[in-house]
Amino acid sequence: MKSHAAFSRRQWLRSTGAALAGLTLTSRLKANAAPTPEVIPAAASAGPVQLSLNENPLGPSNAAIRAMHEQAALTHRYPFSRVPGLIRTIAEQEGVSVDHIVLGVGSGELLETYGALKAGAKGTVISAAPGYMQLAGAMQRQGSQGIRVPLNERLEHDLEAMAAAITPDTQCVYLCNPNNPTGTIVNPAKLRSFAIEVSKKVPVFIDEAYLECSDDFAANTMGGLVRDGHNVTVSRTFSKIYGLAGQRLGYGVMQPELAKAVRALMTGSINLLGVVAAQASLEDETYVETTRLKIKLGRDALLTVLRELNCRYAEPQGNFVFFQTGLPIESFQAKMRAEHVVVARPFPPLLDWCRISIGTPDEMAVAHHALRKILGSAGA
Ligand SMILES: Cc1ncc(COP(=O)(O)O)c(C=O)c1O
Repeated sequence: MKSHAAFSRRQWLRSTGAALAGLTLTSRLKANAAPTPEVIPAAASAGPVQLSLNENPLGPSNAAIRAMHEQAALTHRYPFSRVPGLIRTIAEQEGVSVDHIVLGVGSGELLETYGALKAGAKGTVISAAPGYMQLAGAMQRQGSQGIRVPLNERLEHDLEAMAAAITPDTQCVYLCNPNNPTGTIVNPAKLRSFAIEVSKKVPVFIDEAYLECSDDFAANTMGGLVRDGHNVTVSRTFSKIYGLAGQRLGYGVMQPELAKAVRALMTGSINLLGVVAAQASLEDETYVETTRLKIKLGRDALLTVLRELNCRYAEPQGNFVFFQTGLPIESFQAKMRAEHVVVARPFPPLLDWCRISIGTPDEMAVAHHALRKILGSAGA
C-alpha cells in the first residue's frame, strides 16, 4: 500500500506526457510478461488509463497467451471439436454434469438469452438499484416490467425488500454478487436461504461475474444450489479475473431442462482462440489466486487513499470500488479525464458516486494522484 503511494509521488514529479503515454504498455509488460512480447505492443494502447469497464489489466494467464499463440495458425478451422472438452472441464470444476452448462459469447449472451426466455408481457423482473441491468434490460425489451429494489444503507442487496417485491407475476429475480457497481457482497448464509426459498416460486439468477476477485469464493458461491437441484442459475465469465474480456466467453450453470431451453435460443458463436484460452486458464492452477491477491492489493491501496480523502465507499469485493465524490459524476468524470484517467459511467440514483476499476500498480498510481488532486485539500 505504502509503496504505491510513494510511487505515485515519485511518478508524478518526473512525469511527462511521453512517460504517461508509455505507462499502460510498460505496466502491462511488467505485470505479465508474455511469451512473445512482440505481439503485445499492437494490443496495448497508449493513452489514458482505462478504469471504466472492470477489465483485468493484468491480462490473461501466460498459459492462455501461449495456447492462443499456438492455435493462431489454426483459426481457419471452426472451434466445434474443442467445445465439448471445455464444457467437460467447466462441469468438473462446478461439480455438475455437462448438461447443466451453457456457454455464451461472454456471460452477457447468456444474460440476454435467459432474459429473452423468461420475459413476457404482464410479468416482472426484480433486480437491485443500482445494479447490472443486462438481464433485466433484455426482459424489459420483451415487455416485462422492471422492478428495481434499492440497495440497503451499506449498498448491499436488500434481500427482505427483494422477497417482498415478488408477486405471482414475477418471472425472475436477478442478483449480482458482488454487486456491480457497488462491489458489495451479500452474507452467504442469508443469500443461500433467500435463494432456496425464493426459487421454490420464481427462478433466481445469481451473476457471479466478479466472485473470483472476492476474499472467499468458496464460501460465497451459490453454485452448490444448482448442484442440489434448486431453480437457481449461476453465471460466470472469463472476462474478469481471467483477463479474457476480448475473447468473449462466459457460461451459466443451471438445471438441465432450463439449460436446454436457453441453448435453443442462443445465437452467438464462440471463437477458437477464446475456447483454447479458457481451457488453458482453467488448467492454470495458480493464476486465479495470484491475480486475486494482486487485485486485493490494488483495492486496499485505493481504499487507503479514499480514507485519507474522507470519501465514503461501499465495502468492495470485486475488481472495482464505488465511492462518493461529492461532485456530480459528469463533472468528476471530466476532471479525472483531464488527469488521464477514465472512470465508469453514472449509476443512477447515486449520481455523486463513482465506480473505478482496479488497474495495474502503475495505472493506480496515476489514479491515486488524480484523486488526491481533485478531492484533496489542494483540489478543493
Ligand atoms: C455483473 C456483470 N455480469 C456480466 C457482465 C458481462 O460480461 P461478459 O459478457 O464480458 O461476460 C458484466 C460486464 O461487465 C458484468 O459487470
